[in-house]
Amino acid sequence: MEQELEKLNHEAVEALDNVCNHDQLEAFRIKYLGRNGQLNSAMRRLGSVGKQDRPRLGKLANTIKTSLEDAFVNKQHVILTTAASTDSTTPDLSMPGRRAAYGKLHPITQIMEEVCSIFANMGFSIAEGPDIELDYYNFEALNIPAHHPARDMHDTFYISDSVLLRTHTSPMQARVMEAQQPPLRLIAPGKVYRCDSDITHTPMFHQVEGFLVDTKVSFADLKGVLSVFTQKIFEKDIPLRFRPSFFPFTEPSAEVDIACVICGGDGCRVCKKTGWLEILGAGMIDPEVFKMVGYDPEIYSGFAFGLGVERIAMLKYGIDDIRLYYENDLRFLSQF
Ligand code: PHE
Repeated sequence: MEQELEKLNHEAVEALDNVCNHDQLEAFRIKYLGRNGQLNSAMRRLGSVGKQDRPRLGKLANTIKTSLEDAFVNKQHVILTTAASTDSTTPDLSMPGRRAAYGKLHPITQIMEEVCSIFANMGFSIAEGPDIELDYYNFEALNIPAHHPARDMHDTFYISDSVLLRTHTSPMQARVMEAQQPPLRLIAPGKVYRCDSDITHTPMFHQVEGFLVDTKVSFADLKGVLSVFTQKIFEKDIPLRFRPSFFPFTEPSAEVDIACVICGGDGCRVCKKTGWLEILGAGMIDPEVFKMVGYDPEIYSGFAFGLGVERIAMLKYGIDDIRLYYENDLRFLSQF
């Protein structure tokens, strides 16, 4: 009887080892641990063994039973957890990850950063000023007194009589010169506002102002800096044209054109058959502006320029409607 019990135990342990799914486990339970299973029938037969052997064999049978039951519960746990991991509601850790959507910089921000880095490489530092500006810095300090006809060039959003949304980045010339002494070499990027809206104008747009003040600065220096800039930003050697113009804060003043990037100068719809595209305003800083910030115009000279960032981006990417930049259409924005 003892041998029979040991053999049964041995067989059952081996059988349980080979169980690998729920059905096999159930079959095992019925065969060995069930009410009419082999262990119970062996125990029933204990009634017929000799009285002196009965307690010892009974104890052995009970030990075997508990250890098989424990092993059964363990196996059941293993089978349940492996089944769960292949079930469709739980993650399959071997699957490739799901890519997260990621954003990128707005094309205007990209161009702004590019413009700034080109000038930074020419030794210009960066200064930023307020969008909500005093009339004084936007106009007065730039030699544009109240009621001066030059104010008509700017369709200004006024907040009060003396406070407005800056119409250009040029107020930074006055702010910086008022606070620092030459030599100066700065750019001031930022948003500007004008009450204007059509395919080439939006009420808010971006400019980068640049200025350099030192002794003996000439128009040739302005031309040199702008030539390097256009060459870098458009990634090719582009002819430049300086057209005489007027700004109250520069004298002489110029509007700077580049040869049309679309037709190469032959004349097309974009350049209105002229072969040239205007990209910025510039000039030598007016002595009146120097006087207002307390610089001696007999000692110092300087140049300044202000370029339109949207304009440069339109030419660089061949975009013909400026409003596209501000419609937040991802089909447009994700192309940059
Ligand atoms: N502030 C001028 C504009 O917005 C551009 C400019 C800047 C012209 C600096 C000359 C010098 O039109």
